[in-house]
Amino acid sequence: MSAMKSKGCFVGALVVLFTFSCKSKSQPNAVTLQEQGHGHVHDSYHGDVPAHKLIFPSKVPDRIIANLTEDPSHSFAVNWRTDQRVQQGFVEIAKETHGPDFLLEGQRKRIMATTLTFENENTRDNEPLVKAAYHAALIDGLEAGTTYVYRVGDGTESDVAWSEWFQIETASADANESFGFIYFGDAQNNVKSMWSRVIRKSYQMMPKVDFMLHAGDLINHSEANLEWGEWFYSGGYIHASVPSIMTPGNHEYHDGTLSSLWKPQFNLPENGPIDAVRETCYAVDYQNMKLISIDAISLQRDEASKAAQVKWLDSVLATNTKKWTTLTMHYPIYSTAEGRDNTVLREAIKPLIDKYGVDLVLQGHDHTYARGYDRNKGQGLTVVEDAGTVYAVSVSGPKMYTSQDRDWMVKRGEFTQLFQIITVTQDTIHYGSYTPLGGLYDAFDLIKDAKGNKTLINKDAEIPTRFKTDFSKQE
Ligand SMILES: [Fe+2]
Repeated sequence: MSAMKSKGCFVGALVVLFTFSCKSKSQPNAVTLQEQGHGHVHDSYHGDVPAHKLIFPSKVPDRIIANLTEDPSHSFAVNWRTDQRVQQGFVEIAKETHGPDFLLEGQRKRIMATTLTFENENTRDNEPLVKAAYHAALIDGLEAGTTYVYRVGDGTESDVAWSEWFQIETASADANESFGFIYFGDAQNNVKSMWSRVIRKSYQMMPKVDFMLHAGDLINHSEANLEWGEWFYSGGYIHASVPSIMTPGNHEYHDGTLSSLWKPQFNLPENGPIDAVRETCYAVDYQNMKLISIDAISLQRDEASKAAQVKWLDSVLATNTKKWTTLTMHYPIYSTAEGRDNTVLREAIKPLIDKYGVDLVLQGHDHTYARGYDRNKGQGLTVVEDAGTVYAVSVSGPKMYTSQDRDWMVKRGEFTQLFQIITVTQDTIHYGSYTPLGGLYDAFDLIKDAKGNKTLINKDAEIPTRFKTDFSKQE
């Protein structure tokens, strides 16, 4: 949901009722609409979904998330959720201080959010009706390279219905200054149970991270409020303190429809080509890097979307003045396993990747790991001149498939939860792929000289290639 479109208070209503053929279990013994709508989850509720706190909102903000805007040096976006008693949301922001100084008169700025009332009932997973208010704000006019504190709440004097103050830092005004981000493949399954430690370890290893990038399938069922609750729970204050971007996966879609929660709960740039891919296909300039999200699901499914995204990507890349270019999309250009080839996507996008010399393509979907480049023939070269584009497929959650060795791969892996720490300096992208234990699974440096010539240096990892069959009899 963008806070840029409407300056005033927009209160709309979306009723999303999904009925699926797999409705075998009985409906939960739901609370009355009035009770739930007011955020009171009484003891009378004993349904199949015991995780009240993960599903139901209250007056206290939850699911707070900062997103990158088109101009991260001077702005960020923030979204959060409350129950519907909170009809108007506010953000307060100030420059961080050594003590509570920022609370003094004249230090704080208050911004009114755009508020949307929202309902969904995910009957596919026997979830009850959830009524919520989603709040979205764009915080702009910020100074570059500066640490701010902000909080979100209902605007009242008391702290009770406000979040804590989060620290957040804007991007540097100096495009050449180093920065770093973390890339996650599919979280998707058992997110609270098994993904939480991955995002937490990544933050522990890189507390100065500038943003996070999620390559789709954040959750398993697009309308599952519990699963989205688990995703927000796992990241906790990291989601509010480190801005992120996300591209949708096939699990954020159902029968061609994007999750009804995507736009209310995220606040992503709206500079993509057409309404059908609003907030799923977009571009961000982060210092000296152009970051582009392609909506691969929409592209593969819909001819008009494919045509629009290809034309748009061509124009964005043709006018790109940034030194580095990273694409993210859920389906991989090169898959890691037989029968998972994405021909339509590759034929549409690969010519543009080659034409404009894209540096990194960060993907998900295959629930395995692989990283390499087009011309690699598996010769084990350490240094490669003119390597072109580096492609990566990764998985951060626990759902694991198998893969086959392919010529393009330098390193592959199975049965391994991974996150990638990527730091960008003036001349070099340093890439490291890590396990939840902090072990280095794969690494390379990509160096680009002033003329744009690239050298890829493949580095030794600590951990040898892991295969699923070493741990599990199941393919
Ligand atoms: Fe997936």
